[in-house]
Amino acid sequence: MTIAEISSNCNLYGEVAIPGDKSISHRALLMCLVMSGKTTLTNLNMGQDVLNTLNFIELLGVQSKRYSKGILELDFDGCIKNGNYEVWCGNSGTLARLGIGLVSGLKIDLVRFDGDESLRKRPMDRIVDPLELMGASLQSENNNKTLPVKVTSSSLKGIKYRTKTPSAQVKSAILLAGLNADGNTTISENKLTRRHTEELFSLCGIEYDIHYKPNDYSTTINGGQKASGFDIEIPCDPSQAAFFIAGALILPNSKVTLNNVYLGQERVGFLNLLQRMNATIKVSVKSKYPFLVGTIQAESSNLTAIDILEDEVADLVDEIPILAVCAASAQGTSRFNGLKELRVKESDRIATVTEMLRDFGVSVEVEADDMVITGHPDLLKSNVTTNSYKDHRIAMAASIMAMREHSQRNSVTKILNFECVDTSYLNYLKDLNSLKV
Ligand code: S3P
Repeated sequence: MTIAEISSNCNLYGEVAIPGDKSISHRALLMCLVMSGKTTLTNLNMGQDVLNTLNFIELLGVQSKRYSKGILELDFDGCIKNGNYEVWCGNSGTLARLGIGLVSGLKIDLVRFDGDESLRKRPMDRIVDPLELMGASLQSENNNKTLPVKVTSSSLKGIKYRTKTPSAQVKSAILLAGLNADGNTTISENKLTRRHTEELFSLCGIEYDIHYKPNDYSTTINGGQKASGFDIEIPCDPSQAAFFIAGALILPNSKVTLNNVYLGQERVGFLNLLQRMNATIKVSVKSKYPFLVGTIQAESSNLTAIDILEDEVADLVDEIPILAVCAASAQGTSRFNGLKELRVKESDRIATVTEMLRDFGVSVEVEADDMVITGHPDLLKSNVTTNSYKDHRIAMAASIMAMREHSQRNSVTKILNFECVDTSYLNYLKDLNSLKV
C-alpha cells in the first residue's frame, strides 16, 4: 500500500500538461478491433485502465508499437483469430462494458472478462440485458450479472433499446455490438451522455444517424460496417483537469492554466456548476474538430454553496468527489441531490466521499442518495489520516482537500491506498507538486 503525505497551506500556480482523456483513449483503442489498417494515437492516457484495454486489443491480434509521450502506432488486418481468451479489466468499468459489447457479435469461441474486487461488485445487468435481447450469449459465473462474464460466439440482431439510467458505457456497449449485428440498432436515452463513441465512429468512417429531441436522444447504427485507420491527438482529460481547477479555486494566491482540454458539453458540466458557485474560471476554445478543445484557467475564488439537481448529475458523474471538496470549502450549506449512480462507481462514492470529508472534520449528512455538505472555510482537523478506499477519484479529491489553509501551518495529511491513482493518472503527484509555489 502507498501512503501519500500532503502538506497544508499550499498555493498552486502555473501550467500543467494533464493526461489524455481516459474515455476517448479506451474507445480509440477499441476501434482498432473493428478496422483494417494503421492508426496513430498521440497523447494516449497511459494509466492502468487504458493499458488493460491495450492488452485486450493486442490479445485479439492488433499489433502495436509504443513510443514515449503516449504515442502509439497500431496495425490490424481486420481478422480476429478464433480462440479462448481471458481479458483482465482490472478496475475499469469502461473496458468491461464496452469490451463485452464489442466481442458479443464476433466469431470467437470464448472470451472471459474479469476484474478486481471493486469491478466484480459493479452491475453488468445494464449491458447484459440489452445484449441478450440482441441475441448475445453471455454467462455470469455467479449468475448475478456481475463479472466474471463469459461471452461465447453468437449471431446478433439489431434492436431498439431505451436505457433505464443515462450511461455512456451502456450506450457505447450497444452501439459497438450493433456494428456486428444484422440490421439497425437504435439506442435512446433521456439525457445525452458523453458522445466519444460517436466521435470515434465519425473519425474512422463508420456511419450513424442521430435524432435528438428534449428527453429523447437516439443514435442508430447499421450493422456490418468496417472502420478504416485514423490518426488522432487525444485531448486532455477534463475530469482530471477538475482536480487542478478545484485546487486553484480553493487555495489562496493560486492560478492554474490547463491547455488542450476536451470541452464537449457532456463533460464540462462541472465548469458551469463551479461558475454558479462564484468561481473565477475562463474558458477559450482552440479548435472544434475532431474534438472541441481549449484552455481552462482558474484562480482563487470565494466559493458559495450550491444545490445540485438530480438531473444535472449525469453530466457531473465523475466530478462529484472533487465538487464535494469545493462545497466543503465554500460559504454555506450545499445539497447534492440524486446521487444514486455514485453508489456503483469504483467505490460507493456517497459513502467514501462522506468518510473522507468527515476525516477532515467537515460536516456531511447523507439523506437517502443526497449529500448535504456544510462548508467551513477554516475549521479543519490537523494531521489527518484518510483513505482513498482504492478509488482514484477519492484519492485525488483528498489530496486537494489536504492542501487547504490550516491554522497549524505544517499539518500533514496521510492518504492511504494512494496507488489507485495510477488507474487514470500516472505521475499525478509529480504534476501537482510542479504547480506548488
Ligand atoms: C464513462 C462513462 C461514465 C463515467 C466513467 C467513464 C465512459 O460511466 O462515470 O468514468 O467512458 O463511457 P457511466 O456510463 O456508467 O455513467
